[in-house]
Amino acid sequence: MSGKAQQPVLQLDGLREQLNWLGLSHAALALEDCLSEAVKHNRAGHEIVQRLLETEVRQRDERRIRTALRLSNLPPGMSLGNFDYAFQPNIDKRQIETLGTCAFVRDHSNILLQGPPGVGKTHLAVALGVKAIEQGFGVVFYRLEDLLHDMRKDAETPPARLRRKKYFSASCLIVDEVGFEIMSAGDAGLFFRLISYRYGRGSTVITTNKSIKDWPGIFAGDEAMTAAILDRLLHKCAVLNIRGRSYRLQDLERMLK
Ligand SMILES: Nc1ncnc2c1ncn2[C@@H]1O[C@H](COP(=O)(O)OP(=O)(O)O)[C@@H](O)[C@H]1O
Ligand SMILES: [Mg+2]
Repeated sequence: MSGKAQQPVLQLDGLREQLNWLGLSHAALALEDCLSEAVKHNRAGHEIVQRLLETEVRQRDERRIRTALRLSNLPPGMSLGNFDYAFQPNIDKRQIETLGTCAFVRDHSNILLQGPPGVGKTHLAVALGVKAIEQGFGVVFYRLEDLLHDMRKDAETPPARLRRKKYFSASCLIVDEVGFEIMSAGDAGLFFRLISYRYGRGSTVITTNKSIKDWPGIFAGDEAMTAAILDRLLHKCAVLNIRGRSYRLQDLERMLK
């Protein structure tokens, strides 16, 4: 016989069953590793419980974020972590990081990202959407064209049901590519109704290639309606005017040097 003390065989099946019955399936899966590790490091009882619950909470949250990202329609691969501030020096990193705290969502404020193609408007809008999801807010991303398509389709929906549509109810609605095409009077009316409803109720993040003075041209040339939309949108709004090079064209720039 070796002098080494035999470790007791852990009888975990019953415990695992109880954790599963309580809906703590991640803790149930982690139980064995957690206890072996606790024996190895001589951990106190409360530490074992703490680690087990932390595993459950972390994995549930990761699953929630994965599901919310999928349902939000946010395009993948764009985050604040992979935004290259050095490439776009006129973007104020501190301002973006402050927006990344998502106080604007809590506050039902809006964000308007303006600028020419390729400067990172969509990237930043999506990255802020990801942050909002991580913090537990409901987020939905639409290209304007798809949003108008859905709103036209839902035009006859009774108000009570319409208010449950994601573009009305999400804490943070991102509308990408406003201004590429001129809207019909009907579409401009639908957009106005959306912005009016969301005013004071939720945040709207808009990316656009058009400066505000050119907005009447987007909304079927209707100056009064454009003023009404801008009034609600800009009342509580961070406006980021991005001037700079196109990230998409940087390879071309290098080749032409
Ligand atoms: N500063 C940046 N750092 C990292 N990637 C960037 C940056 N700016 C733009 N990109 C990337 O370049 C592409 C075009 O950017 P995008 O945000 O779509 O531009 P915009 O919406 O202004 O036309 C995207 O793939 C985006 O992820
Ligand atoms: Mg874009």
